[in-house]
Amino acid sequence: MGNLDSLQMQGISKSYDGTQALREVDFSAAIGEVHAIVGENGAGKTTLVKILAGALERDAGGILLDSEPVELGTPLRARRLGIRAVHQEFSLVPHLTVTENILMGQMPTGRLKWWVDWPTAHHRAEEILQEIGFTGINVRTPVSRLSVSHQQMVEIAKAVAERPRILILDEPSAVLSQEELKRLFALIQILKKESTLILYISHRLDEVFEVADRITVLKDGELVGTVHSQETDQGQLIKMMVGRTLGEIYPRRHTQPGKEILTVKGLSREDSFADVSFSLARGEILGLFGLVGSGRTQMARCIFGAEPPTSGEIRLEGKVFRSKSPRDAVKTGIALLTEDRKRDGLVMSCSIRDNVSLATMQQVSRWGFLDRRQQDAQVQSEVQELDIRPAQIGRLVRTLSGGNQQKVVLAKWLLSQAKVLILDEPTRGVDVATKIEIYHIIGDLAERGVGIVFISSELPEILGMSDRALVMREGRLVGEFTRAQASEESLLASAAGVIQ
Ligand SMILES: Nc1ncnc2c1ncn2[C@@H]1O[C@H](COP(=O)(O)OP(=O)(O)OP(=O)(O)O)[C@@H](O)[C@H]1O
Ligand SMILES: [Mg+2]
Repeated sequence: MGNLDSLQMQGISKSYDGTQALREVDFSAAIGEVHAIVGENGAGKTTLVKILAGALERDAGGILLDSEPVELGTPLRARRLGIRAVHQEFSLVPHLTVTENILMGQMPTGRLKWWVDWPTAHHRAEEILQEIGFTGINVRTPVSRLSVSHQQMVEIAKAVAERPRILILDEPSAVLSQEELKRLFALIQILKKESTLILYISHRLDEVFEVADRITVLKDGELVGTVHSQETDQGQLIKMMVGRTLGEIYPRRHTQPGKEILTVKGLSREDSFADVSFSLARGEILGLFGLVGSGRTQMARCIFGAEPPTSGEIRLEGKVFRSKSPRDAVKTGIALLTEDRKRDGLVMSCSIRDNVSLATMQQVSRWGFLDRRQQDAQVQSEVQELDIRPAQIGRLVRTLSGGNQQKVVLAKWLLSQAKVLILDEPTRGVDVATKIEIYHIIGDLAERGVGIVFISSELPEILGMSDRALVMREGRLVGEFTRAQASEESLLASAAGVIQ
């Protein structure tokens, strides 16, 4: 395989029945470069890289590699040309082992080709993981049993295993911890030296500035421009992305937290967290910070009734609450926005309407009949309030961009009229403008008296949003900070177990 000097995508257009996702985009990138692609939710980033990966057909335009036109009609053809992608959505086969997923299609076989040489296969998968610096994953485990962040690392390993010439990473960091992100960045530097072109999509601009040589901005399906990261700053980039400068990022709060609404005492669950106690007041935003894997998600799931605790007590408005199922929790007034919208937040093959109203069926059904009109009106108003695009409630969720899917999850819980809302990474995969919208919606909910547990791995938003912040490490609460005490240093030190 010869060296790749350049990639050119010329006049690329693509529409999905009616939605013009890309309009005559001219994009080019060079060998050995990390090239970030940024833009609001629905700007067309995923569509562009899917066309390059052969996962989507374009309507018009041409693609040149080393100035030679190429046809990338299928993922296999793209792969033969050395193009590999880690897509935004999950693409592993859950019941197969890590080894099988990494070596998919190239498992070593025995002499007669009809049995798999397992020891060699596992060994090779281990080698691949080790070589790229992703350690601590048992290759014999079925992928479905790994944490979301480990699944993501397996996806990356699978793509890198063949040493692609072009590596596409569509929001790889959304589910990685800081430590894992560091390892990914180290890997990117190695690949870059080996003359790989890396296309990197992310909504986290600090990350983009850290890793990218150049940045291309897409907006509403058009290419706004390409800039050198050295020659620009976040403010300028945001302006290119949204077409305006943004106002206040975090909402100003006017009311004080009220009466205690949720009390958690000595809550434990074997193997994931132990002895967690805290309380939450009406109208309070309680930040919950911790590194990925610190037990925050499991704890949230326990309160919600998605997993039973092994011991401990939960009280809602003073009354003992023993949730047997999420449905129970929703009925009583506790809602959970999950971090993994693909796995349990959304039904991809259903419409916006059906997804949003899942949590609210009770309110709009009378004597067992569903009042469609009332339901539609409610859903429509949420769709408007959150600016979900396109604003058609009959749209299948599968056809929305990643960030808009996240807004659908949020809409669902906003309609549920919860008293306690647990938000697990609510802004993951969401663009800057939408993030700010979500912060303000959360602020409004708190003003209305909803008690909010705000789980996030992004320190700035924990600091910007919370009245109080808790820190979790290795399954235990290790710190509590008032707004005045909380700082980046204090929270990070506490989450990492460093004594100050
Ligand atoms: N399968 C599909 N069917 C119909 N419309 C689609 C489909 N996939 C994407 N779209 C639309 O195409 C546009 C571009 O979507 P795309 O997923 O490329 O955006 P994105 O920039 O990756 O956004 P995000 O940051 O939210 O992931 C959006 O308006 C989206 O609604
Ligand atoms: Mg996308």
